[in-house]
Amino acid sequence: MSAQDLTGSTAIVTGASRGFGRAIAVALHGAGARVVGVARDGARLGELRARLGDGFTPVTADAADPVAAGHLIDTHGPRILVLNAGASPLPRPLHQQTWQTFSRSWDVDVQHAFHWTREALLRPLPPGSVVVAMSSGAAVQGSPLSGGYAGAKATIRFLTAYAAEESELAGLGIRFTAVLPQLTPATDLGAAAVAGYADRAGVDVATFLKDRGPALTAEQAGAAITGLVTDSAQDQRAYLLTAAGLRELG
Ligand SMILES: NC(=O)c1ccc[n+]([C@@H]2O[C@H](COP(=O)([O-])OP(=O)(O)OC[C@H]3O[C@@H](n4cnc5c(N)ncnc54)[C@H](OP(=O)(O)O)[C@@H]3O)[C@@H](O)[C@H]2O)c1
Repeated sequence: MSAQDLTGSTAIVTGASRGFGRAIAVALHGAGARVVGVARDGARLGELRARLGDGFTPVTADAADPVAAGHLIDTHGPRILVLNAGASPLPRPLHQQTWQTFSRSWDVDVQHAFHWTREALLRPLPPGSVVVAMSSGAAVQGSPLSGGYAGAKATIRFLTAYAAEESELAGLGIRFTAVLPQLTPATDLGAAAVAGYADRAGVDVATFLKDRGPALTAEQAGAAITGLVTDSAQDQRAYLLTAAGLRELG
């Protein structure tokens, strides 16, 4: 795959109905890929199909369903997987979580990353394929208002590094990399978290954001992930993603 030209390649993007996933789908499509977008909200996926046309295939499915993962990989033969789907954590402190709310990110984010990563190794995807998994800056810093979210995202980073090692050991030529975006109010998930942390700090959202530097936009995330996919030299196992772009974490 050459820089910014994905013509002839198929990408599957989970969580493509809104936020980062939607912007990533648009950017990959713009670089020439056929894009299969997976999410539960069929109406929003339909809107994206209306915008992008035949080059975008909407699939209404639960990305954490192992049958969906296996079936969609078998059906579409992707060379690019962007494992972006993620549940919105309940923004409450630890003692106001239940086990069910605490573990939601494990049931959705981690389970989905596990199934799709396993399928990528088992099939296996063709040499030169790329699997990008969305972790979070919270995996490094923690996230005290998000239940088990930060630990779940740290596990996705580990899981992706384990898969990279298996790919190397078996000579599969599949590049696995985790991306850790900085918290941003630009998406539904991020806006809820920012509102929760501002409230906890006793300030309004604008004040909370003032000293945090420029906020990452969904379009910047789309461009950064597309750049990562198209540039095989970007072969680190994890990258931090901010408005300034990707930074290697090793
Ligand atoms: N925004 C931030 O500040 C931030 C920071 C670090 C990491 N992240 C990570 O980036 C990823 C994208 O988040 P976002 O901020 O763009 O959030 P968002 O706007 O809330 O979008 C989440 C996406 O995930 C999909 N999704 C959730 N559960 C799903 C399931 N079971 N099956 C299929 N799709 C599912 C949603 O679609 P449906 O509801 O239609 O299914 C939606 O498209 C997440 O993994 C998130 O943890 C975000």
